[in-house]
Amino acid sequence: MARPRIGVVTGGGDAPGLNTVIRAVVKAADQRGWDTLGILRGFEGLIPPVATRPLAVADMDALLFRGGTVLGTSSRGRFVDRTPTGGRKRIDQQVVERAARAAKRLELEALVCIGGDGSLRIARALSQAGVPVVGVPKTIDNDLPGTDTTFGFQSAVAVAVDALDRLASTAESHQRVMVLEVMGHHAGWIAAHAGVAGGAHVVLIPEIRFSWDAISHVVNRRWRAGSRFTLIVAAEGARAVGGRYVMRSGSGGHPGERRLGGIGPRIAVEVESRTGREARAMTLGHLQRGGPPNAWDRQLCTRYGVAAVEAVANGQLGTMIALRGAAILPVPISAGVGRIRTVPVDGELVRSARAIGISFGDEPLVSAEHPITDR
Ligand code: F6P
Repeated sequence: MARPRIGVVTGGGDAPGLNTVIRAVVKAADQRGWDTLGILRGFEGLIPPVATRPLAVADMDALLFRGGTVLGTSSRGRFVDRTPTGGRKRIDQQVVERAARAAKRLELEALVCIGGDGSLRIARALSQAGVPVVGVPKTIDNDLPGTDTTFGFQSAVAVAVDALDRLASTAESHQRVMVLEVMGHHAGWIAAHAGVAGGAHVVLIPEIRFSWDAISHVVNRRWRAGSRFTLIVAAEGARAVGGRYVMRSGSGGHPGERRLGGIGPRIAVEVESRTGREARAMTLGHLQRGGPPNAWDRQLCTRYGVAAVEAVANGQLGTMIALRGAAILPVPISAGVGRIRTVPVDGELVRSARAIGISFGDEPLVSAEHPITDR
């Protein structure tokens, strides 16, 4: 008799740890006597003609720390209707129905859907169309609600901190301002965590509008105090009071589509002209997404993958695996989609950063107790 079979799909932008989850799913399924079928190129692989590949347990060991996804992925596929200029509309129900029929023909016990907001919205739509799904929350941005953290985030932070360590030494040697632009979309998690861990003096996040004066003030104050370099981390979604998001034109398949990017170089130019201090910018870009997951993500991905298979075994379908405190558990998939989780501006992370003097670019320049005169 044929063994029961589950499917696994990776959707959206890649993140360190995708292969680690796949490995855990395949191994945990095998322990239960189940086979695993990989869906290729993200959810696109479910649109007929379907693209699949059996995943053998013997091939899984090599995947623990391999970056990317061996299944491939797609982030701007046919499931989402678009405006003529490339803006996102809603999920295309006809495509969902076609994919759902194709998924049912594969006779899967369940489909493990590994992805961020966009992919989990597709997973939820498939679930509503009768496909048994379990989601696993992925994104370097860490902006999914319903879980304490997504996988991939910590690895991205580690890359950003390594970059800051390196930038600090060159900034100090040249007495420069160094601006590191990190990803994160409309959330400042990567910038805030990396800024604290990497010793940044200024951290700019989308959740807190910054003023050019406040940034210049930090640079000047440090210079006068004898600290002749300044490290600034800027989330790609950071913007000045009264300013707009800095965008760049996309090079993807959707004409007119614009993406966040470019705030770092903009800050370097502005700070240099306002302070007279030499400034340079570095955009970390996709380095944050590629490469192996760090130790934290390896164990998280493994636990997420195992929990997904357990959820299937327990019939807990239409769910997403979440980390809540120390527990890994299934929650309704709706808990993970539809809104983004941002950095609480009065939360402990921001307060701790401020407590050691990190500026978020929003401080009043003069206080009664500590009058300050700029150069
Ligand atoms: O959501 C992950 C993310 O890396 C964001 O931080 C970033 O804005 C976006 O994806 C970049 O997407 P792309 O790879 O399509 O340029």
